[in-house]
Amino acid sequence: MSSDTPTSTSPAGVSRRTFVAGAGATAGALTLGVALSACGSRESAPAGVTPPSGAPAGTLATVSDVPVGGGVIAGDVVITQPRAGDYQAFNATCTHAGCTLSGVSDGTIDCPCHGSKFHLDGTVANGPADRPLSKVSVRVDGSNIIRQ
Ligand code: FES
Repeated sequence: MSSDTPTSTSPAGVSRRTFVAGAGATAGALTLGVALSACGSRESAPAGVTPPSGAPAGTLATVSDVPVGGGVIAGDVVITQPRAGDYQAFNATCTHAGCTLSGVSDGTIDCPCHGSKFHLDGTVANGPADRPLSKVSVRVDGSNIIRQ
C-alpha cells in the first residue's frame, strides 16, 4: 500500500478500509439471507438463456430461444411468445411479494414462492398475486430480442 493512501493499517496488516468493507459484505450477506428466508424460496437462481456472444448491446435472447406458447427467463426479464411472432417481455419479479419468477411451463409464468402464475401476456392466472407483471419494452432485430 502506498504512503499516500488515507487508511491506517493494523499490526496484522489489515487496513481499516479493508476491515470495514469486509464487515459490510458480511452484513450484506446476512441481510440477503434474511430476505431469501422471508421470501420462502428454496430454489437457486432461475435457469434461463443468455445472449449469444457478439450480439448487439441489450440483447436478451434470440427468437429461437422462445417457443410459441411458452417463454424463457433471460436475466431479470421473462420473454414470452403467446402467438407466433408476438414476443412480449416482463420484469421477472413477482408482483405478489417480489420473488424472482422461476420459469415458464404449461403456458404460464410461474413464481416459486407462493404459487402465483401469470398468463403469457403477463396477467394473473392464479394468485395470490393480484397485479400483472411489469412490461419491459423489447424489439426483434433479426434473430435477436433486444431490450429497448
Ligand atoms: S412472491 Fe408470492 S407468489 Fe410470487
